[in-house]
Amino acid sequence: MPDLLLAYSTTDGHTRHICERIAEVARAQGCAARVMPLAQCRAEDVAAAARFVIGASIRYGKHQPEVAQFVNAHQALIDARPNAFFSVNVVARKPGKDRPDGNPYLQKWLRTVRWKPQRLEVFAGRIDFPALRWGDRTMIRFIMWMTRGPTDPTAVVEFTDWRRVEAFARELAGRGALARAA
Ligand SMILES: Cc1cc2nc3c(=O)[nH]c(=O)nc-3n(C[C@H](O)[C@H](O)[C@H](O)COP(=O)(O)O)c2cc1C
Repeated sequence: MPDLLLAYSTTDGHTRHICERIAEVARAQGCAARVMPLAQCRAEDVAAAARFVIGASIRYGKHQPEVAQFVNAHQALIDARPNAFFSVNVVARKPGKDRPDGNPYLQKWLRTVRWKPQRLEVFAGRIDFPALRWGDRTMIRFIMWMTRGPTDPTAVVEFTDWRRVEAFARELAGRGALARAA
């Protein structure tokens, strides 16, 4: 039985990397952590986990619809154990928007679901310009230009504050607010 199940919703894989880093740190603290795609996560997986966390990335202003569908379908199971949600987006590179209260995507999404996660987080993501298709690259460069971010089409830019990710992991592993909520 995993002490901690991390289910991710990703398009380009960065949210999975964040979940894997959380799991690594949690395991180093003796916590049995498992990482899986949200799309493969079943009720039995949630039921078998002592704690449950969802991480989801933003694309063109939205988390993937699978996230709201999942939490609406399994809310009672999720609520029956300590739980958390984190969002990954590049707006979170900006001071103020790097906290759950100030991140517009996270706040907007929370208003669309009944689930009230016990713990919320937001992490700045990663842009791999060369890996993007022309249309997406052009759009993201334009958005970055508008918001005074990097626009070099050859750059891979990682905004993620890994120390914050690791601090969150330590909390999930048992030393912080989520553990006290259990
Ligand atoms: C096509 C595309 C659209 C994106 N749209 C947004 C957006 O609207 N707002 C935002 O803050 N970040 C946006 N991002 C940034 C992603 O949230 C960021 O790259 C994140 O690390 C992606 O995580 P993932 O690899 O787990 O999907 C976008 C990225 C791409 C490639």
